[in-house]
Amino acid sequence: MTIKNDNFHPIFDGIELGIGTWAWGDRLYWGYGSNYAAEDVKNAFVSSIENGLTFFDTAEVYGQGKSETLLGSFVKATDSKIIIATKVMPFPWRLTHKAFTSALNGSLARLNRTYIDLYQLHMPLPPLKIETWMEFMAEAYQNNLIRAVGVSNFSVEQMQRAYDTLIKSGVTLASNQVEYSLLDRGIEENGVLKTCQEMGIKCIGYSPIGMGLLSGKYSMNNPVKGMRASKYSKQDLIRINPLLDTLKKIGSDHGGMSASQVAINWVRAKAVLPIPGAKNHDQAVQNSSVLGWNLEEREIERLDDISKKVIKEK
Ligand SMILES: NC(=O)c1ccc[n+]([C@@H]2O[C@H](COP(=O)([O-])OP(=O)(O)OC[C@H]3O[C@@H](n4cnc5c(N)ncnc54)[C@H](OP(=O)(O)O)[C@@H]3O)[C@@H](O)[C@H]2O)c1
Repeated sequence: MTIKNDNFHPIFDGIELGIGTWAWGDRLYWGYGSNYAAEDVKNAFVSSIENGLTFFDTAEVYGQGKSETLLGSFVKATDSKIIIATKVMPFPWRLTHKAFTSALNGSLARLNRTYIDLYQLHMPLPPLKIETWMEFMAEAYQNNLIRAVGVSNFSVEQMQRAYDTLIKSGVTLASNQVEYSLLDRGIEENGVLKTCQEMGIKCIGYSPIGMGLLSGKYSMNNPVKGMRASKYSKQDLIRINPLLDTLKKIGSDHGGMSASQVAINWVRAKAVLPIPGAKNHDQAVQNSSVLGWNLEEREIERLDDISKKVIKEK
């Protein structure tokens, strides 16, 4: 099924699901090089495009550039038209236009491209003002180095400032990439989701599987390891059990769908573009097959209710 929404930037035409590539090359957080490596993430890429996905999200900081490098090499080896979204980090030492250009050139080189489809400011960080970053973005857009401008982790007020600056140069703000899952519904409360819809800014939802927790494979006996454990404790694994049971039940009612697939489709049902991470062939195949079916209204409501309770208990 293809959605064409004239309110959004045309790079999102027909895009209902993307693929996150933070884990591609990242040792510190995701353990790249231990139980998965280059061959696995290459398989994730190939399986994703074989299943019709074309939108890949990366960032210059993922694996210190390794994610972009891997993605660039995979894209080079395919004839498929791939849409690449990457991000520039507003490090406090990046204070000049030259620093921005150098970051952009670094991403272009690693990605093997002459332009980037969607270039996103990774987060709003001082000391440079949002307006200054957006002026740099607008110039890169006018020089055909980027096709669309996005932001990430922006509040309503910050989105408005980015929008107002870009529009002075005739550029629209294409997207805001924010955390969104059954474990984190902050954008429903802080107005970001509503404002994105009203302003025609695509809301891209990151960590839709709760960094893997909503797959249901982690438990007290099999806790998340590494830096992920700093975000989700063993207590969280107990707390979310009723939600996992509901995800599994709904998945089985849909002919053997997994908890991850139901969690991703809940994000889709909220008109947010999910970008689940996939580390290997199996995860990519499973995640991409959320597109053939939709949750029913009563299932969405059930998940809404149970997730609210689970979030409240935190
Ligand atoms: N803008 C930002 O600040 C920001 C922040 C975070 C993420 N992001 C973006 O959003 C993307 C997705 O977020 P995320 O990677 O944090 O979390 P996620 O998509 O919620 O979870 C991804 C992880 O879940 C596990 N998984 C994926 N598919 C699965 C399946 N079908 N069955 C079982 N387990 C599965 C894998 O890890 P294990 O197998 O190890 O469990 C995978 O790495 C990132 O790759 C990145 O592109 C952006």
